[in-house]
Amino acid sequence: MQIQGKVALITGASEGIGAACARRFEARGARLSIVARNAEKLGAVGGPGTLRTAGDITSEPVRQSVVERTVEQFGGIDILVNNAGIGLYAPAWKASLTDARRLLELNLFAPLALAQQVVPYMRERKRGAIVNISSIAGKVTLPWFTLYSVSKFALGSLTDGLRSELKQDGIHLMVVCPGYVETAFQAHALGDRPPKPIAKGRRFAISAEECAEAVARGVEREARTVVVPRIGWVLVALSRLFPAAVESGLAAINRSGASA
Ligand SMILES: NC(=O)c1ccc[n+]([C@@H]2O[C@H](COP(=O)([O-])OP(=O)(O)OC[C@H]3O[C@@H](n4cnc5c(N)ncnc54)[C@H](OP(=O)(O)O)[C@@H]3O)[C@@H](O)[C@H]2O)c1
Repeated sequence: MQIQGKVALITGASEGIGAACARRFEARGARLSIVARNAEKLGAVGGPGTLRTAGDITSEPVRQSVVERTVEQFGGIDILVNNAGIGLYAPAWKASLTDARRLLELNLFAPLALAQQVVPYMRERKRGAIVNISSIAGKVTLPWFTLYSVSKFALGSLTDGLRSELKQDGIHLMVVCPGYVETAFQAHALGDRPPKPIAKGRRFAISAEECAEAVARGVEREARTVVVPRIGWVLVALSRLFPAAVESGLAAINRSGASA
């Protein structure tokens, strides 16, 4: 799908990957509707024509208001980027269920609810793209990040199912699986601090701008799955071909993290 002239609704766009997506989409000629809780930071993203909604997208009235305002201002929604998300560093066997529910509300139920709200507008026009920002942790379960992986695997599965359900309506679904991206994501995560080997494991780190460029290109070529950086596919392939060996390696990192 060409981005030029399209209306893009991007969640979690006050900083990090979402803000970078807003910049990349705007540079390609998209009209932006952006949402996040921090109004001040949101105000610094996008040009004069940008529609900004300050609010928490785990709240149903906020989600309804974002979608209604966008349709009112621009006449429709062509691209939904479900980007807002949060991490949770804690072993699943002792993680706080309150944190787990908060995680799933933001990483899974908010994208689902927003998809449900924008799809009728997209179906009317027989076109649209829904982009769900998952993670490499949505392809390979990371033991120090199990519940986050649960949320991102579920988001990936939701993406696949919606793709089949909406193909006949001309609506394209894409999932994006970044590895480590240089943002404040780790500092914002729920639970404990990340294990030291993980926090330091930035060998293949990319910038938010590089990640956003991969998102924009993925929309343009109607990719099903974007793994960025592409070296992440090696881990995905290894985990499919040699699951026990990859699990042992991850368990060793987890052990060294716990004792670090
Ligand atoms: N950074 C990485 O290494 C990495 C790797 C793989 C996948 N990802 C995924 O990429 C996405 C973006 O992550 P990021 O690295 O850009 O994280 P980030 O820097 O922490 O940014 C998160 C964004 O989401 C917004 N947000 C958080 N809670 C919200 C809520 N309840 N309602 C509305 N907006 C909310 C935040 O803005 P406010 O605080 O203003 O609400 C912020 O704009 C997430 O889905 C994450 O899981 C990140």
